[in-house]
Amino acid sequence: MRWLARQPPGLEEAKRSIERAVEGALRGGDIIRGLQGLTKKQTSRKEPLDINGAVQEVVVLTHGEAVKHGVSMSTRLEPSLPRVQGDRLQLQQVILNLIVNAIQAMSGIDVGCRELQISTENASGEGVRISVRDTGSGLSPETLLRVFEPFYTTRADGMGMGLAICRSIIEAHGGRLWATGCEPNGALFQFMIPAG
Ligand SMILES: Nc1ncnc2c1ncn2[C@@H]1O[C@H](COP(=O)(O)OP(=O)(O)O)[C@@H](O)[C@H]1O
Ligand SMILES: [Mg+2]
Repeated sequence: MRWLARQPPGLEEAKRSIERAVEGALRGGDIIRGLQGLTKKQTSRKEPLDINGAVQEVVVLTHGEAVKHGVSMSTRLEPSLPRVQGDRLQLQQVILNLIVNAIQAMSGIDVGCRELQISTENASGEGVRISVRDTGSGLSPETLLRVFEPFYTTRADGMGMGLAICRSIIEAHGGRLWATGCEPNGALFQFMIPAG
């Protein structure tokens, strides 16, 4: 508006400013749509699914990223788990988020010590439990209390929405997602999905 108020008006500069504002608005719109896409309840998409298969696909997908960050990734998947009712893509989104967070949490420690383990098990009667354990920076008492809060982040370029979205996805599946510290170091994120 200041460019336009000049005598003579700075039309070129005003045009550039408006272009930047439009770009910013479009980028904001993309981010909001992305978040809505992640949080929208897609109850109709639930199907009986094989959790181990879903986990394995995400592990294959993230393997390159892990190698790039010097992380050795391993899995311990319990065979013949009961099927769970779920949205495959949403659950894979949760696993992906936990893996990415774990890789990021290990960026500050010795390369030889960066270990990521993903496991599944039959939690007798209760359902299927998926665990993502890392040997990273671990969770301070404050972080432990706040990790699932929307917009809570300790990373300079973080948005703090990842775990909040993960929790809402798991709760929409009738399950729960929680975090604990790990001995002697690192963090453990686990979620449980009821079977059947
Ligand atoms: N595996 C982990 N180890 C240590 N801290 C973690 C881990 N996962 C998440 N956190 C902490 O929780 C915060 C929130 O995570 P998240 O909701 O995914 O948002 P973001 O990754 O954008 O920061 C992170 O900034 C970090 O402090
Ligand atoms: Mg994250």
